[in-house]
Amino acid sequence: MAYICYMQINIAKKVAAEQAATYIKSGMTLGLGTGSTAYYAIMRIGEMVREGLSVKAVATSEESEELARAQGIPIIPFSEVDRIHIDIDGADEANAALQLIKGGGGALLREKIIAAASDQMIVIADESKVVAQLGKFPLPVEIIPFAYELTLRRLHQLHAAPALRKKGDQYFVTDNGNYIADCHYERIADPETLHAQLNDIPGVVENGLFIGMAHLLIIGKEDGTTREI
Ligand code: 5RP
Repeated sequence: MAYICYMQINIAKKVAAEQAATYIKSGMTLGLGTGSTAYYAIMRIGEMVREGLSVKAVATSEESEELARAQGIPIIPFSEVDRIHIDIDGADEANAALQLIKGGGGALLREKIIAAASDQMIVIADESKVVAQLGKFPLPVEIIPFAYELTLRRLHQLHAAPALRKKGDQYFVTDNGNYIADCHYERIADPETLHAQLNDIPGVVENGLFIGMAHLLIIGKEDGTTREI
C-alpha cells in the first residue's frame, strides 16, 4: 500500500514538472530548482535539449547542477547570466496567495537568489503541498555556524522552537557551508512580518519563506492532471 502511494505521488510531481516545462522556449536561460519534484523538471528539460531545444541554465544546488550536466543541459557561470527567464522549483508548502515554505532540501538560499533574479518563478508541487495556512512544515532557516547557539536563542525568542537539522550524527551543512534551523511554528499567521523578523537576526542568512516571488503554481494530481494558480 505504501508503495502504491509513493508511485502516485511521483506521478503528481512528474505531471506538474512536465507541465512547467511546456513554458520553456529555445533561447531562454533557466533556473533549475532542487528536490524530488524539480528532479522531474530537470529530466524533462534534458529530454527537450536532446530533442533540439536550445537553453542555458543555472542551478540552485550542487545536486541539481550535477543532474543537469548529466542530462546534457548547458550550465553557465553566473558571470554570463544577464537574465533568467524562468525558474522552475518545488515547494514544501504553498498557499493560494503563492506564498511558499521552501528549504526542505536545504537549498533555500540559492533557491531564493535565483528566484529573485528570474523573470518568472514557476512552482511545481503535488497536491499535498497546498495548504490554507503556512507553518505545519517546519520553516527552514539558514544560519551561519559561528555562534549558532546565540542565533538559536534569538530564534527561540521568536517562538520558533528551532531544531538544528542533522544528517546522521552530524549537523547538516548547506552548499554554502551553513546550518539549517528547522523552526516549528505549526501556523504562520503573518508570513511577511515573520520573514522580516527572522532576517533581522544577526547570524540568520535567509529563511525559507518565499513571499511575492512565485508567479505560477502548477499542482500535479494523482490522476495525472494538473491545475494552475
Ligand atoms: C529544497 C526545496 C524543495 O523545493 C522542497 O523541499 C520540495 O522538495 P520536493 O520536491 O522533494 O518535495 O525547497 O530546498
